[in-house]
Amino acid sequence: DSGALVIAVDGPVAAGKGTLARSLAKAFGLRYLDTGSLYRAVGARVLAAGGDPADPEAALAAAGGLTEADQRRPELRDEAVGIAASQVAAQPAVRAALLDYQRGFGRTPPGAVLDGRDIGTVIFPDAPVKLFVTASVEARARRRHAELQGRGADVDLAAVLADLEARDARDSGRQAAPLTAAADARLLDTTDLSIEAALETAIRMVVDATGRKPHLDSGGQ
Ligand code: CDP
Ligand code: CDP
Repeated sequence: DSGALVIAVDGPVAAGKGTLARSLAKAFGLRYLDTGSLYRAVGARVLAAGGDPADPEAALAAAGGLTEADQRRPELRDEAVGIAASQVAAQPAVRAALLDYQRGFGRTPPGAVLDGRDIGTVIFPDAPVKLFVTASVEARARRRHAELQGRGADVDLAAVLADLEARDARDSGRQAAPLTAAADARLLDTTDLSIEAALETAIRMVVDATGRKPHLDSGGQ
């Protein structure tokens, strides 16, 4: 044991992974990595260069030398970038290029919560805590729609739902590290849960798996 605790949080688009993972990191004193932002950064780079995210050469070129700034660009949250991300993410060479960074991040003490699609299956198959977060496709589309509207984007719910279903299908159907719950993952369906209730459940799952105590001021915010 390197003294680094890894918590894997996987699931489909807009299930609430990021919200939960960020709060869990706070609750257990760990670092947080949104691995989707890595794939989004690669997709955004290809789009910015006028390339095709489905083209392996363009995608692999964009996966090299990603900086922190690349992971923080405001356009990363656009659905067009989400779609490009899922296209570059289907390519094994791109996934391989991002592997060491993710493992290094998680192994650095005190450890980390990583959210994505393949954290519990490929990146950290031995993680002591794995959560698979889901919600109905309708609930997820409503949440992502509200989020995009809150950022001033003019999109309709049907278009968000269609994009989300296409991305889910590509993420689950691909050969390379498809989205699937690890056999030892704990399922957390957030369809009818508030963010607070989902976090409470997630904290209980981590306590149950690790025996660690959460910081007292971390729940219900
Ligand atoms: O990371 P992921 O795409 O799985 O989801 P997220 O960004 O954490 O959450 C997507 C949206 O759903 C956010 O606006 C959350 O505030 C919202 N959400 C919610 O309304 N209820 C939950 N139980 C979880 C998230
Ligand atoms: O937040 P949201 O659920 O919309 O997606 P994300 O986590 O930001 O991920 C964007 C895309 O990157 C996903 O649709 C996946 O195709 C890809 N991804 C992946 O393949 N593996 C990961 N560990 C994380 C993201």
